[in-house]
Amino acid sequence: MRKAIILLMTLSISLACANSFELYKPDKKENMVATVKNTGEKILVNYDEAKANIYKKLDILDKIGESGRVENATQWLEQERPKVIKFLEEEYYGKLPPRPQKIEFKLVEASDNALDGTAKRRQYKIISTDVNGTHIFNVLLYYPKNASKDNPVPAFVYPNYYGNHTTSIEKDILFPEADAWIRNNKICKVSDNKAHEYQRGTHIDRHPVKEIVARGYAVATFCYCELYPDTETYFMPEKSIYRIFDRNALDTHLRSIPAWAWGDCRTLDLLESLPFINRYRIGVVGHSRIGKTAMLAGVYDKRFALAVSNSSCAGGAAMNRRNYGETMQFASKHFVCWYQPKMQQYGDNIETMPIDAQHFLAAMAPRMILVLSGTKDFWADPKGEFWSLMEAGKIYKLFGAKKIPTFDDLRVNKLFVGDGFGYVLCDGKHKIDIHNWNYIMDFTDAHGWTKK
Ligand code: GCU
Repeated sequence: MRKAIILLMTLSISLACANSFELYKPDKKENMVATVKNTGEKILVNYDEAKANIYKKLDILDKIGESGRVENATQWLEQERPKVIKFLEEEYYGKLPPRPQKIEFKLVEASDNALDGTAKRRQYKIISTDVNGTHIFNVLLYYPKNASKDNPVPAFVYPNYYGNHTTSIEKDILFPEADAWIRNNKICKVSDNKAHEYQRGTHIDRHPVKEIVARGYAVATFCYCELYPDTETYFMPEKSIYRIFDRNALDTHLRSIPAWAWGDCRTLDLLESLPFINRYRIGVVGHSRIGKTAMLAGVYDKRFALAVSNSSCAGGAAMNRRNYGETMQFASKHFVCWYQPKMQQYGDNIETMPIDAQHFLAAMAPRMILVLSGTKDFWADPKGEFWSLMEAGKIYKLFGAKKIPTFDDLRVNKLFVGDGFGYVLCDGKHKIDIHNWNYIMDFTDAHGWTKK
């Protein structure tokens, strides 16, 4: 009998571990050196958990840059959050470009029978004009057929990488503007930085729009390179949204991530103008670099009720004070077009950075934040992404959240739903597809987004 109990206990322990994160480890081959493109500097990348926690972590309830503890939500909102915003604006990514003097939403194409008759489709040009000229980018919107003024639906702003035409096989989907610069990519068959007919539908797996609409949501997408070409290691401001503004109204160092976030915000302007969209239930979603962008847009623009970071890596949800996968030391020097120059100093001496990813996430509170990682996405440091969310949870607790995650909640394919914040570790690599999207919608459904 005793033996049977022990056997049963062992069995249940190993079953419980069957979906625990620790089973997934990169093999030795993944240990590597990352080379900074512009300088040739070689930076060691650690994938050994035993060497990951060499830096002292920040407790989010410690006040930033002074002694004392954050005791309540008002203190967070009035004293600490502004410090986070200031850091994001001045040292991390930069300020959002201004709202243009004039903005026009031009409907250029419509179908009430899209996606095999299951959805409505609208295509708009967002035309922004300011002192130095006009800028245009293209938005593709799908939404449920039953959406109306009396039944407004929740919506996601979800930028794409290689052009709206790569997100769908529908022949009517417009290309980016003729002079747009698109990042080259093998899967999407972009090899000359331009959009072509043969690229249609090549990124459809990242944009399961039919399924999203079937669950009662609208989804709007645009190509982020229309706002600032994603040159990564060099600058191209003349082809970006920045060019239409008075130079004095802008940051000294113009970076691409605030420009992309600006695209999220202008798309939100468009959605707010549509009576069949529920303007109080609009989330901004992004994968990887667009995940960092979604976090920034969500934090800067309080009209977003939710920000979703899908595998946003260093600079996004991954805790910078973890020596695992991509580090800020590498990211800030390699992706010079994304970060303010000051980040290179912080990257070399990470413990001098006054905030960490958890502060960035918590700056959304009490609005909603959801973080998704991939079990095999080691570069993004899934455990570091979860850890930041766990820390940010302490701020949500100040706002009344009851469920706070612990490392026991780091489970594969099991969505943790807190009050206003959540996390899921998806099985797989660095990706976003229907699997991830179902978790996103499970999370918003759990917060009543599809209820009338
Ligand atoms: C690189 C980069 C990441 C980024 C990712 C992506 O891997 O190091 O920070 O998130 O590209 O956008 O795919």
